[in-house]
Amino acid sequence: MKIEGKEHKTIWFDEKNQIVKIIDQTKLPHQFVIKDLKTVKDAIKAIEVMEVRGAPLIGGTAAYGMVLAVMEKNDSNFIKQSSELLIKSRPTAINLKWAVDRMIKKLTGIKNNETLKVAIDEAKTICEEDVKFCKNIGLNGLKIIEEIYNKKKNTVNILTHCNAGWLATIDWGTATSPIYHAHKKGIPIHVWVDETRPRNQGANLTSYELNEEEVPNTIIADNTGGILMQRGDVDMCIVGTDRTLSTGDVCNKIGTYLKALAAHDNNIPFYVALPSSTIDWETKDLKDILIEERNSEELTHIEGLDKNNKLQKIFIYPQKSKVKNLAFDVTPAKYVTGLITEKGVCEASEKGLKGLFK
Ligand code: MRU
Repeated sequence: MKIEGKEHKTIWFDEKNQIVKIIDQTKLPHQFVIKDLKTVKDAIKAIEVMEVRGAPLIGGTAAYGMVLAVMEKNDSNFIKQSSELLIKSRPTAINLKWAVDRMIKKLTGIKNNETLKVAIDEAKTICEEDVKFCKNIGLNGLKIIEEIYNKKKNTVNILTHCNAGWLATIDWGTATSPIYHAHKKGIPIHVWVDETRPRNQGANLTSYELNEEEVPNTIIADNTGGILMQRGDVDMCIVGTDRTLSTGDVCNKIGTYLKALAAHDNNIPFYVALPSSTIDWETKDLKDILIEERNSEELTHIEGLDKNNKLQKIFIYPQKSKVKNLAFDVTPAKYVTGLITEKGVCEASEKGLKGLFK
């Protein structure tokens, strides 16, 4: 998608210099910085400190992390250690382990002098597939937006939480892809963008990317969605997911569950958009999902531009206060209207998912 009119992807392989390049998302929205990943350690750090984030992009970065490991030392022990460290970099998004396992499977039994080429090709394939999947998620979700528009014959107001945009994938996004397709088709759209404290992925990334694609949007405090729904100012909700169980239970950014409850109470359709790489076919009980807990500084400090346009980080809480920073929550399937995938839209259930993904 575009930034200042120029097409971009979130991660790519620089053939000439044999390095991986990313958009450093910790600098957005105030600075647009392209960063080089030269070692597997760089890839692990980029995931940990969230220079890259969003389940599909975390998966893409992990795949290229395996490429960097092969480049550094084409030795099975080193590659195994690197894969374990990559998987440990963040616990909740299933795409991380999915991508590392896929790379290991592809590299198993490959002759040493072919390992690097096979690794690069597979990492590229994982990213190209994700672009295709997200585009199809958009086309499948577009039908839902068109239905609402055909009934309403007026602007379709969509609420979204966190950033499940192209910045969270390789391109198009998951939750944003139907929105971009509808906008490109000339359907009047307006997006309510949850700020998404504490890291503000909604304000800093979703509103930023929607602005760059000229999609009308309004940032709201995370607790505002409920009254907007009561007032009839929200026609549907679309969010992403970091791990969706085969039961249809959805794990996503903290605050998603509360939005689903408000939508349920106001009969607002609540959709979750995901590529098949984010389905967890193993875990059956939502209580078994590992919920990431991050450092308290994400809550106690906030970053922004001071009056001299310089990025500043300031402390905002009472000195003596204790803080707890859970990064994700789980929305039970009963509050999910449907899952929008690359293969179509289905009920949030085992029957629904198995109907699409045999
Ligand atoms: O902590 P983050 O920014 O990685 O969390 C991202 C989300 O929760 C997204 O909604 C999810 O990964 C889906 S991205 C298409």
